Amino acid sequence: MKVVIDTDERTLVTDDGLETRSLDLYSREAFSVLSRLWVTTGWDLKYTYGFTWMGRPVIQLPEDLVVIQEVIYRVKPDVVIETGVAHGGSLIFYAALLKAMGKGRVVGVDIEIRPHNRAAIEGHELAPMITLIEGSSVEAGTLDAVRNELEAGDTVLVLLDSNHSLAHVLAELDAYAGLVSQGSYIVATDGVMEWLVDVPRGEAGWGRDNPKAAVERWLGTHPEFTLEEPPEFTFNEGEVQERVTHWPSAYLRRL
Ligand SMILES: C[S@@+](CC[C@H](N)C(=O)[O-])C[C@H]1O[C@@H](n2cnc3c(N)ncnc32)[C@H](O)[C@@H]1O
Repeated sequence: MKVVIDTDERTLVTDDGLETRSLDLYSREAFSVLSRLWVTTGWDLKYTYGFTWMGRPVIQLPEDLVVIQEVIYRVKPDVVIETGVAHGGSLIFYAALLKAMGKGRVVGVDIEIRPHNRAAIEGHELAPMITLIEGSSVEAGTLDAVRNELEAGDTVLVLLDSNHSLAHVLAELDAYAGLVSQGSYIVATDGVMEWLVDVPRGEAGWGRDNPKAAVERWLGTHPEFTLEEPPEFTFNEGEVQERVTHWPSAYLRRL
């Protein structure tokens, strides 16, 4: 797509070969085009690889952390389960929120927890709130270990941030959705992949092979969940109604 920005004329013109659209540069529609471009160029430059939370790298778009923060505050889970630990920053982030709320614990699952990451997570002030489980997120032994961390009556929220292929996310949805409490969420992160088919580090196959496609397919047979896109704004005195996010079609709420 061709995008021409003219700050003097205050216009943004898009041309996708089929249609030419001339937008007011300061409109919501233009913001949406600019946001998508910012997200995809930023993804290619690994913009999300530049943040830490309380000392640990957290590989997320800060916008997504602000949104999940409010969701966690509303749900007030006893347990947050996350598949995909990496450096542990997201586990520390969730633990910090739960600590501030006065209850809760975090379970992190990763196929490979590198020794330096394990040491840093286990040496962190919030480590007593965090359990690490090493293994593929969908293997029976891993799932048993996760279930062992839960107590009857726990309010549970799950985030899927491990292998983002369609098949793996479908398998994770099947494996973890049953652990999610009524009113709580299973969040399939990084649907952004769908938008990355023509960026330098992306892959053409991601147009279909991504977490967003997994959510959309899985929902067809799971009416006990609903897609919230995004969870309603609790505060919005601005004009933008669409999140800037790496997590489109991510939030599945258990009815
Ligand atoms: C995107 S990173 C996680 C980022 C982390 N949640 C954060 O916010 O900083 C993905 C992680 O998933 C892990 N992973 C890949 N395949 C997996 C699988 N089958 N089961 C569990 N973890 C897996 C990788 O080892 C990697 O650490």
